[in-house]
This record gives sequence, structure tokens and C-alpha cells, in this order.
Amino acid sequence: MKMREIIKNVYWLGAVDWDRRLFDSLIPLPDGTSYNAYLIKGKEKTALIDSVDPPMTEKLLEQLSSISQIDYIISHHSEQDHSGAIPAVLELFPSATVLTTEKGKDMLTNHLLIPEEQFKVVEDGEEISLGDKTLRFIHTPWVHWPETMVSYLVEDKILFSCDFFGSHIATTDLYVTDEGLVYEAAKRYFAEIMMPFSNIIKRNMTKIAELKIKLICPSHGPIYDKPEFILNAYEEWISDKRENLVVIPYVSMHGTTRKMVEYLVGKLAEEGITAYQFDLVGGDIGKLAINLVGAATVVLGTPTIHAGPHPLAVYATYLLNAIRPKIKFITVIGSYGWFSNTVKQVVAMVPKLKNAEILTPVYCKGYPKEEDFKALDQLVQTIVEKHKSLKLL
Ligand code: FEO
Repeated sequence: MKMREIIKNVYWLGAVDWDRRLFDSLIPLPDGTSYNAYLIKGKEKTALIDSVDPPMTEKLLEQLSSISQIDYIISHHSEQDHSGAIPAVLELFPSATVLTTEKGKDMLTNHLLIPEEQFKVVEDGEEISLGDKTLRFIHTPWVHWPETMVSYLVEDKILFSCDFFGSHIATTDLYVTDEGLVYEAAKRYFAEIMMPFSNIIKRNMTKIAELKIKLICPSHGPIYDKPEFILNAYEEWISDKRENLVVIPYVSMHGTTRKMVEYLVGKLAEEGITAYQFDLVGGDIGKLAINLVGAATVVLGTPTIHAGPHPLAVYATYLLNAIRPKIKFITVIGSYGWFSNTVKQVVAMVPKLKNAEILTPVYCKGYPKEEDFKALDQLVQTIVEKHKSLKLL
């Protein structure tokens, strides 16, 4: 795809990756992704904003083939899907200066071996002039690495936000056309990489709120020509407000844990509580992450293997602890054959969920019996009371 004009002298370039299905060897990308770079031609200087994932380097170089000079390469974020082609761009434009944060410089010298003399570190709030256009750099750490920053094109009121506000979607549309699709993709992205830093993101959002913004140009997914759409979504996702939602990731070997999960889901629904049942066997972990963003409660369902949780439940628990949703209540249900240390092990695996209260687990020997179903009824009543205490019911 050729370079595309957004407004006069400001261009989209980069690559649409229709076929990518996994990011970081971890994150499912059901809709592919894009690596957006941008070019700003000022009267005196030209700036390239970010680059592309290394396998897409040729596409970027082809788009730049008609450009005679690049004075600045702005690196908002050192992760290779945005910085990976910078060395190749520097080979074409060796006099270009890489503008980034102090931490960004450290990362780019280490990850990409870019020589120190190629850099100029930019401070929070610092501006550079391209002649008739001014770029202001705003440090926005932890969206989602410590070095991240965004740029604001003052005269045109465009925010270049890199991963911040991004969505993994492959599309030929320059702008958001399907808000529902982009909302889910951006929420998936937020859940997987931003959610652990929600409190810091609140501070970054305050900085962004001071700007008048006409367009938000992220480095993944389409451009926002109605910025309030994604700004409002982020405000919702970082808020402390919980939803009347119980997320139930589970795995079952012989149907016992599934029986308990299905019983629980039915009873929660009868009480007016939304339940999200998620089979860890083959499920899209991104869907689980999306539902965790607003959930008030998590109930993990796992049988016992070698006295502890099933390895898939271990994976889900590890992920839960890593992405740190703001859940208020958590517990475990499942079964064992002759001995189990499962509940103790699961609880020990979530030290970062320190604000979540642990509810009484329901763990039964063999197939659930009358007293086990009664215990599940009791768990449902406890969840009802807890959700009422949050004014969710
Ligand atoms: Fe899109 Fe953190 O890289």
C-alpha cells in the first residue's frame, strides 16, 4: 500500500498485517493488525513517526523511496513492532536524528544497537519545530513499557499515540468505520498489555485531556477522527467501577468441574448476575481478558492433578495475576480424587490481586453431591451479597 495523505503534508505509511494471528507469541490477533508509521513534512524539516515490524521493513522503505530527506525519526516506543525498521531507515537517511525518551534511548541502543550519537533525548513537554509545524512530546510511561511517549502536532491538533489507544485490526480503512469492532479490539489490547498499569494510565489520561485533539493516530489499527470515542472507552476501562459480572475460567477433565460451573452459572443468572463461562481448552484468551476488564468477581474452576491445579488453570491464574484486573472477589471451585492442595496453590499464585477478597471455595471429592450443590448455592448467595455491597444489584 502506498503512503496515504491524512491532511496536507501529514501522511500514513506502514504495513497492514492481515495474516498475523499471534503477538509476542502469546496474544491472539483474530483480526490481524497494522503497524502504522506517519510522515510529517514541515517547511524546513521532515519527521518520521515510528516505523514497522522488521518483517515489513521493505514495505516501509518502498513508501519512503520518493522522500529525499528525513531529519527526525521519532520513536515513541522501543518495542520492535514500531522500532524494528529504524536501523534500515537510518541506513537510507544517516543524518536523521532519533528523538526519544532517556529510557527509549537506552532500550534502542540495547535492542537495536543504534549508536548513541544518533539520538537526541526529548523531555516531557519539549517541542521541536519543523518550520510551519510544531511537535510536542508528552511522556506517557507504561503504555505499556516504561519509556513510552506520545507526540502532539500543535497546529493540526493531531495526537500520535503509538500503542496507547491502539487496536489490532487489519483494514484498508484509514479511519474507524465500525466502532463496535474497534471497541472490542482496543479493549482486548488494553486488557492484555495496559490493564496492569491502569493507575499510571489515569495520570497519562489527565495529560492528554489538556489537549485539543482532532485526530488520534495510533500505531495499530485505524485512525480516530472522533477521538472522544476511544478517550471515553479508556476512561471507562481505567475507572474503579465494577460490572455485575462473574468471570468463570475453567477446565474439566471428566465433566465434574464442568457440572459445577454450569450449575453455578445457572444459579447466578437466576439471581440477575451476568456470568461469563470460559473453557480454557482452546478458548481465545483475549476474550477472557476482555471480560476481566470490568468484572467484579472471578471464580476459577479446576480439577486436581498431582495434588494441585490443572496446568491450564495454572496458566489462567498466572495470567490473571500478571494482567491485574480490578476484581473485588475471587474463589475456586472444582474437585479432587483422593487429595488436593489446589486451593492453597491457586491463592498463593495471585499476590498482585491484593484488593480481591477470597470467598469460601467449593471443592468436592469426586462428583458433586447434595452438600456440594448446597455449598455452590451458598457461594451464589455470598456473591449476591458482595455485589449488592458494591451497588451492582
Ligand atoms: Fe505495538 Fe508495545 O508494541
